[in-house]
Amino acid sequence: MVRLSEWEEGMEPPMITERESDDLPECAVVPEHDFPTRDALVREGWRYIGTRITYEKRCLWKFGRRSRLVRQAQPGEVLSLAEQIPWGGRYWRDPEVSDDAAWRQLRHSIISTPDDVYMLKNAAFAIIVFGIVCLVGVHPAASGLGLGRTLLKHALYGENRIKAGTYADNKGARRLYESLGMRPNETRAVYHK
Ligand SMILES: CC(C)(COP(=O)(O)OP(=O)(O)OC[C@H]1O[C@@H](n2cnc3c(N)ncnc32)[C@H](O)[C@@H]1OP(=O)(O)O)[C@@H](O)C(=O)NCCC(=O)NCCS
Repeated sequence: MVRLSEWEEGMEPPMITERESDDLPECAVVPEHDFPTRDALVREGWRYIGTRITYEKRCLWKFGRRSRLVRQAQPGEVLSLAEQIPWGGRYWRDPEVSDDAAWRQLRHSIISTPDDVYMLKNAAFAIIVFGIVCLVGVHPAASGLGLGRTLLKHALYGENRIKAGTYADNKGARRLYESLGMRPNETRAVYHK
């Protein structure tokens, strides 16, 4: 556990989330440029996992565009598609997390959102909750064809404020969010222990 005595006055305390299960690590999130706090985390044995960028767009008018190709889907329908997509989320970045545990957590996050799953052409799916893109994935054979953008425009339709996040090295997701007019609003370093 973190010793709060390590944190000196003026340092921003990290946001720490509980581990989701015994074989998954705890997660600490700190502002990217807060180096005193980042150094303190490393002294405490936390592992740097990556830098996460959140994107946001405020819309004066309703965002998005309906597409008749997009439909709401059952979480169970998208599981085998999800397994064919190369995810780069934080559990896959951490060499101390087994692939099994990472996939189990991903399946759980899909199954626990039964009302918010959208699908396009059986090749792309997205989970959107209150204007926030929780997960978006396109089969690698269909990537770069505009499926991600069409799907998100439909699934985010009508929102006044939309949000998404990804790791700094995920060029595809960053370009997708930027192509929807979202701009980066926060950059945070992620650690595991
Ligand atoms: C990220 C992802 C959802 C993009 O979906 P997609 O259907 O390929 O995206 P689109 O075809 O709608 O493209 C949107 C824009 O992103 C660009 N883009 C897509 N993949 C790209 C890549 N790998 N590198 C650079 N740009 C990319 C497209 O050229 C397009 O740009 P444009 O507006 O200049 O034309 C898809 O690549 C994917 O599933 N990746 C793996 C899972 C993942 O990382 N999900 C996001 C994190 S939750």
